[in-house]
Parts: sequence; C-alpha cells; structure tokens
Amino acid sequence: MGYRVPRDFSCRHLLTMDDWIDFYDSAPTIYVGPRHRDVHFRVIADDIAALVAAHRPSRQARVLDYGCGEALHADRVAAQARQLVLCEAAPGLRERLRKRFAGEAKIEVIGPDDLAAAADGSFDLIIMHSVSQYLTPAELDATLARFRRLLASDGCLVIGDVLQPHTQAFTDALALLRFGAREGFFLAALFGLVRTLFSNYWWLRSSLGLTRHAETGMREHLAAAGFAGERSARNIGHNQARMTFLARPTPPGAAVR
Ligand SMILES: C[S@@+](CC[C@H](N)C(=O)[O-])C[C@H]1O[C@@H](n2cnc3c(N)ncnc32)[C@H](O)[C@@H]1O
Repeated sequence: MGYRVPRDFSCRHLLTMDDWIDFYDSAPTIYVGPRHRDVHFRVIADDIAALVAAHRPSRQARVLDYGCGEALHADRVAAQARQLVLCEAAPGLRERLRKRFAGEAKIEVIGPDDLAAAADGSFDLIIMHSVSQYLTPAELDATLARFRRLLASDGCLVIGDVLQPHTQAFTDALALLRFGAREGFFLAALFGLVRTLFSNYWWLRSSLGLTRHAETGMREHLAAAGFAGERSARNIGHNQARMTFLARPTPPGAAVR
C-alpha cells in the first residue's frame, strides 16, 4: 500500500497539512533502503537515549516521544527510562508499533487524542523530533501548550529537526549523501535521491510546503507556551543543518526573555 495522491485533488480535495499524517500512515518509501531506514532510527534512538540518561541518570524518567514514526529502535530509549510512551497520529502506523513492541513492558503506544486523559506533569522528558515541519504555526502553539501541561515542573522538552527558513532541499540531499557515505549506503542514497524527485513525498512537499522556523521564532513559540528554550549545539540525528531546542517550563507568571 502506498500514499495515493487524491484523485479529485483539482476540483474537491483541498490538501491540508494533515495529509502528511496519511502519507506517514502509508508505509512511505522515504528511506532509500533497509540499511538507511535501520540506521536512521538507530541514530535517533541513541541520541534520544543519551538525552534521557543526561536528564535522569537513574533510569527513572517518564518519556514521551511525540510523532515517533516507526521508532524501530525505541527499545534503546526505553532501556534508559522508567517508561516510554510512543505517541503516533497515523492509525495504521500506530497498530504496527503496538505489534512491534507488544513484548516490551516499558513501552506504551498511544495516539495524540489519548494524551487528553494524561495527568498534569506526567512526563519528565518530552521529545518531538522531525514533526514541527508538518504543523501549522497554530498547531505548533496548541501542541506546545499541551506539552506544557504534561511536563513535570523540572522536566525538559526537546524539539528536534526544526527546518530553518532558508535551508534548501539541496542541503537535506547533501546531508543524506554524507550520512550514506558514513554508514555504508552511499550508492543507495544517490539512487534514492533521484527516485525522490518522482515520489509522492516530493509531490506533497512541493504542494503543501514544510513549516520552517528561525531560531528566534521558535524561541518565541516556546516562550508563548511557557517554556524557556535554547538551541542545542547539535541536532538529533544526522542532519546538522536542522536545529534542536531544549526547553524548560517557566513558572506561571514568570517573565521570559
Ligand atoms: C518524519 S516523521 C518523524 C518520525 C520520527 N520522529 C523520526 O524522527 O524519524 C514525521 C512524523 O510526524 C507525524 N505527523 C505529521 N503530521 C502530524 C500532525 N499534524 N500531528 C501529529 N503528528 C504528525 C507523522 O505521523 C510522522 O510520524
């Protein structure tokens, strides 16, 4: 099964950013091959696991990974935590995650709507990696406000893979080639990039665009939701042209720079 371009697109189907959820539900071919897919999720899992360990070395952190995608190596994150909640909006993908991690006592799979029932301060660490580009600014604000409620007062919010306003697709392509060269899938990356130009991903990206944020803009979104955020020296994952922000809740009523 693949993502289908809506047939009646030209006359009735108005594309919205939610079409990205359908796209990710369709087991998309955004990875150039099995090696890329595996190593992509391993690198991300190891980076997140390091953040969890730094935040709570005691392995007692309650962690939320929002928009986790396939999260192939979530067990590596769970090993550093007390509990890992994988939250995924795409329903088919969510079911695949439930099957994959059925035997992992520390891992729970939920959808965004399920978070409404979670108590205030339920998580010590909340990660949202490579999702902000699919949210409108209003959706980002609503999501950050939700995170503010769910995060413990001494918790940490991590927003990763944020696209900067002037970064071009070419920069992403170059980062993928470098990643491929380092991890042994350079040729697959080269062919994969050519294939991407004819893919539904490219069609959707060209039609809908991706939401981008300047460093100051993202800090302002965070501040409006009650966080003090700073850009991290490193982005999670392989693409260092994108940005990761680490944010702490500010006490209600406190002024934020
Ligand atoms: C590029 S994948 C990122 C997956 C994983 N975090 C990673 O870094 O590999 C984008 C994810 O964002 C989710 N997503 C897209 N639009 C969304 C929305 N409006 N609300 C919540 N999640 C969304 C998709 O379902 C998908 O899992």
